Amino acid sequence: MKHFLSLLNTNNQSLPTTSDWQSPSCLLKADLPESGLDSNDLYTLGERTFQNGEVAFLTVAGGLGTRIGFDGPKGLFPVTPVMGKVLFQVFAEKLRALKRRYGRTFHWLIMTGKETDKATREAFRKHAWYDEAYLHIFKQGTLPAFSTDKQPLLNEDGSIVCLPDGHGGVFKALKQADLLSLLETKGIQTLSYFQVDNPLVRLDDALFLGAHLHQKSEFSTKVVAKVHPEERVGLFVQDGDRLRLVEYSEFPPSLQSARNKDGSLKYRWGNTAIHLLSTDFVQACANRELPYHVCRKKIKAWDPISKTVQTIEGLKLEHFIFDALPQANNPLLWEVAHEEEFSPVKNATGNDTPETCRRDQINRWLRWLKAADPTWLKEQLKENPEPTVEISPLFADNKDDFLSAWKRLPEKPKTLDGCCL
Ligand code: UD1
Repeated sequence: MKHFLSLLNTNNQSLPTTSDWQSPSCLLKADLPESGLDSNDLYTLGERTFQNGEVAFLTVAGGLGTRIGFDGPKGLFPVTPVMGKVLFQVFAEKLRALKRRYGRTFHWLIMTGKETDKATREAFRKHAWYDEAYLHIFKQGTLPAFSTDKQPLLNEDGSIVCLPDGHGGVFKALKQADLLSLLETKGIQTLSYFQVDNPLVRLDDALFLGAHLHQKSEFSTKVVAKVHPEERVGLFVQDGDRLRLVEYSEFPPSLQSARNKDGSLKYRWGNTAIHLLSTDFVQACANRELPYHVCRKKIKAWDPISKTVQTIEGLKLEHFIFDALPQANNPLLWEVAHEEEFSPVKNATGNDTPETCRRDQINRWLRWLKAADPTWLKEQLKENPEPTVEISPLFADNKDDFLSAWKRLPEKPKTLDGCCL
């Protein structure tokens, strides 16, 4: 306990110095030839790695849907526009599509927290979204919580309130659940990591995987170019010879809006939290300490004065996975199009809401339809300019696959609005 109290007094251990920060370099698809890289070679390397089953998938799903007003694990939030499929089902379909393509089932590791574990397990059991033999649900650890005047918070029975230790707890939790040895035994070299909140995530990206392996990167991330200084995404900075990610809430406001001579934002590479991690690196991280972040949060705790459980403002300790980044060799940033791959569900109102995510899903599918059959789409849009459509990852999960799947359709849907493929 003394150790934690001293952390609270020294504030966030992780805050780096800002004087030397530069804008980091990022590999853009368009720059591949200039960097002496052939996208076909990278793609083939990625495909071969999928074929050999040397990749497993890791979802961090310890969070509840509280910020969107949903009383359950966020993975069980209905997100698709027509069928109302929940996030976990969308990811499961993506992985089943991958199985169909490569003729093998991929291991899927899902990290839950103490508040999401039971409901997550029950839902997977009930709906059989994924082959149980390849599904590994494991629970993250916890850390004690404190009042704002730094006293440990207590439960009704006198025990200390403990809360999930942040997604950075994933390394130790994987080790504790004996999943690191599973990865080793199965010859899995790469963990494809994603958060539970983004249904646009691509799990089939052979080019990104190829680039990650070619660069011998231990920690690669898909980034989106930030347009406005206020966007709530973590930002990558080059700190001497190390790459770091600084969370938006901890980024100095004066630097957030710093611009280059051409008017572009100086620190613009925003974190999608879509990572590829080498399993050797994950093994090493499981034996290292990550810094602690102190976050203010509403916490349920025993109030000795009213002698009831109350929700109060308190302090929570968390580890962030990206604090491991400065230790990683050859890290890679890979730019992707925001509208194609990133639309998380985070808030009830404003940005990143269920409604913005629904629109982003529909717009992506309409772009694919436009590429596949512009005349048919134009006719349909005349009838209904704002159609609600849904395309399952099992039909196609990227534009190229959609073009071929559309060609193979024996007949076109009768109407676009309400259409599910
Ligand atoms: C996160 C990133 C931010 C990034 C953004 C992209 C952090 C601190 N910041 O922000 O850099 O730009 O996503 O969408 O992560 N989780 C657990 N256990 C925990 C805490 C969280 O599994 O103890 C999981 C959540 O279920 C979720 C993910 O981690 O899948 C992100 O957590 P969240 O609190 O939603 O992070 P953001 O503030 O949205």
